[in-house]
Amino acid sequence: MKITILAGSPKGETSVTMQYVNYIIKKFPGHEYATFHVAQRIKTIEKDEKAFSEIIDSVRTSDAVLWAFPLYYLVVHSGLKRFIELIGERGAEDAFAGKYAASLSTSIHFYDQTAHAYVRGISEDLGMRYAGYHSPEMHDLILEKERKRLLGFAGDFLATVEKKLPVSRFFSPLSAVPTKYVPARPTAGVDPGDKKIVVLTDATDGQTNLLGMVERFCGSFTTKPVVVNLNDIDIAGGCLGCIRCGWDNTCAYTGKDGFVDFYRETIIPADILVIAGAIKDRYLSSRFKLFFDRSFFMTHIPVMEGKQVAFLVSGPLSQATPLSEALRGYFETQGASIVDFVSDETAGSAQLDGLITGLAGRLVWAADAQYIRSMTFLGFAGRKIFRDDVWGRLRFPFVSDYRYYKKHGLLAFPQKTDKKFRMVNIFLTLLAHIRPIREKIYGQMIKHEMVKPIIRAVEKY
Ligand SMILES: Cc1cc2nc3c(=O)[nH]c(=O)nc-3n(C[C@H](O)[C@H](O)[C@H](O)COP(=O)(O)O)c2cc1C
Repeated sequence: MKITILAGSPKGETSVTMQYVNYIIKKFPGHEYATFHVAQRIKTIEKDEKAFSEIIDSVRTSDAVLWAFPLYYLVVHSGLKRFIELIGERGAEDAFAGKYAASLSTSIHFYDQTAHAYVRGISEDLGMRYAGYHSPEMHDLILEKERKRLLGFAGDFLATVEKKLPVSRFFSPLSAVPTKYVPARPTAGVDPGDKKIVVLTDATDGQTNLLGMVERFCGSFTTKPVVVNLNDIDIAGGCLGCIRCGWDNTCAYTGKDGFVDFYRETIIPADILVIAGAIKDRYLSSRFKLFFDRSFFMTHIPVMEGKQVAFLVSGPLSQATPLSEALRGYFETQGASIVDFVSDETAGSAQLDGLITGLAGRLVWAADAQYIRSMTFLGFAGRKIFRDDVWGRLRFPFVSDYRYYKKHGLLAFPQKTDKKFRMVNIFLTLLAHIRPIREKIYGQMIKHEMVKPIIRAVEKY
């Protein structure tokens, strides 16, 4: 069988993910494998039709495609995202239709599920038969148990392709948005006070709904917010994954383009940040992906902490769950406050007008009140992963993160911070070994004792 590997690391052959691919190739030698480093070579692939066609021809003559990628900002690298866009833009979907697909990532397990859901959705949109995923932690290949798991994945995938087994489809096709949005001029103005509001968009001339949403939002204020179009920012290229930033947050592109200055001078100081983009396949555009990837020079430092954030999205947002989960996951983990998502899926222009102007008012109110919405599992889990990795395996090369986390109390492990409860737990567990006491605790006391400190807080404050 022939397998085309679409590799999504900017590091090409020197990538961690490629070592997992190489291990599969070594252990299953009876097949033909063709590897293309689409993320690393995206500029060439974009410019040179021949380079693109070579990849598409390989897919066309393959039995299956393996998407092999590192996690980048809860999804895939902007280069792989751009390659996926090119498939649609250049009408190459037919080469993928009917082929089997699987996804293999490496990561630190920070939102690997959204990345695989995205790749699965893309594969299914292309008419492929998605047969499964493998998502190891980046160092797992060193462990025998995990090598076995990798071989299990590859064995299952190859057998599914060989036997032409049926596979289930998980994602329904996305349906287009019917509303044509024509914004009305807002009447009552929202006073932003001293709050710095930044609207970040990638809207182009033809995207009338998105442009209308930005116009309505900005027109809702007595003083116009700063609007930045990502297409106007000088960005020399995608994140290289070089981790030069790990030491002191200096990006390898410093002095070579305008991204770092823009991010430091416009994004970081904003009190309110609004992301305004259109859905392209199942994410925003690759330009937005580039924005997120390149912001990695601030590594795992929560520079969005305390900001009010909202999203104006043109497109079928309610159907693109990996996108909303990735955005929520990122901003929650950062400690930002997500006010709302507004999309043009709503019934009509008047309703959308109301939603957008309402959002403008809510953002300023929340910023004035310094109300930070509570984190859900998405933020809590994300912070725990970062805490463990910044303290542990990734302390080097992410030296700057360690310094920051230590200084700002982000390395709060329960064995250090919950000392009182550790003593209480030991004491109560010992007591509960005595049967009559145990029966009294679990039978009569526990319900009341659990709620006691909370009732006290209600009474006291
Ligand atoms: C810019 C950047 C963004 C990343 N984003 C994520 C992420 O969202 N989730 C995650 O688990 N790991 C993330 N990682 C870690 C990489 O996915 C991980 O180190 C991977 O193994 C790198 O593979 P590669 O060497 O094949 O590029 C990120 C790394 C970089 C440099």
